[in-house]
Amino acid sequence: MPKVDYGLDAPKMVRRLASRAGLMMVIAIVLYYANRTTNPAAALPLATSLFSIGLSLGLVAGVMFLSSRVAKLKVRDRILESIPWRGDENVLDVGCGRGLFLIGAAKRLKKGKATGVDTWQADDLSGNTAEAALANAKTEGVADRIKIETADARKLPFAAASFDVVLSSLALHNINSSQERTKALTEIARVLKSGGYLAIFDIFHTGAYAKTLEQLCFEDIRLSPLTLLWCVPTRSLTARKA
Ligand SMILES: C[S@@+](CC[C@H](N)C(=O)[O-])C[C@H]1O[C@@H](n2cnc3c(N)ncnc32)[C@H](O)[C@@H]1O
Repeated sequence: MPKVDYGLDAPKMVRRLASRAGLMMVIAIVLYYANRTTNPAAALPLATSLFSIGLSLGLVAGVMFLSSRVAKLKVRDRILESIPWRGDENVLDVGCGRGLFLIGAAKRLKKGKATGVDTWQADDLSGNTAEAALANAKTEGVADRIKIETADARKLPFAAASFDVVLSSLALHNINSSQERTKALTEIARVLKSGGYLAIFDIFHTGAYAKTLEQLCFEDIRLSPLTLLWCVPTRSLTARKA
């Protein structure tokens, strides 16, 4: 039986941080042993400084790894538990990647369908392909309840009011300008039914999303307390379309 794998976020950055951490610590040790007899007064402070920098980089890499592999799964469950599921919803996951939220939602459906859209950026998630999301859905036993399409959050290929629930995890911050992120939120609002639920989990811009959703006439907008997953400000936001 293949194992479910929802991928590692920002894999290149995690690898780069980890390798630089290792390199820095090795250099610190080598310099210490090379200088400790000829220049003992400088050897220890120099090695300690370099080693501390390496250790800090390693810690950031470790936090990023654990945020992807452990914390994100718990956040997903908490967010999905906050939605009052009937079981017949049409769900959309914007930037679904390998299907973490998509499959979690599909597991809560009896009759409904969960659709995932993505642009499949390799730098954002390891092994980021529609095939990987489908393989995970098969392994989790929900392949018959999900659909996957290639589409940009700013131009969703769905009619207005198509979905009862829209989810988006760690996707919208990848859109560079705030104007373009507003465009994506406006698209999300368009495809969500009146009375439908929206849940966004993201880094950096969640406060701005809340303001935009207010302007788009969402109600019951709730921001979770700030956390430092991935070593940056991270929050989830839930809201209901009026
Ligand atoms: C960090 S991954 C998160 C994937 C998944 N939601 C999760 O939490 O595991 C971000 C995802 O957003 C997708 N993405 C980035 N920009 C996008 C856009 N403009 N429209 C749709 N998806 C986008 C990336 O391809 C990637 O799959």
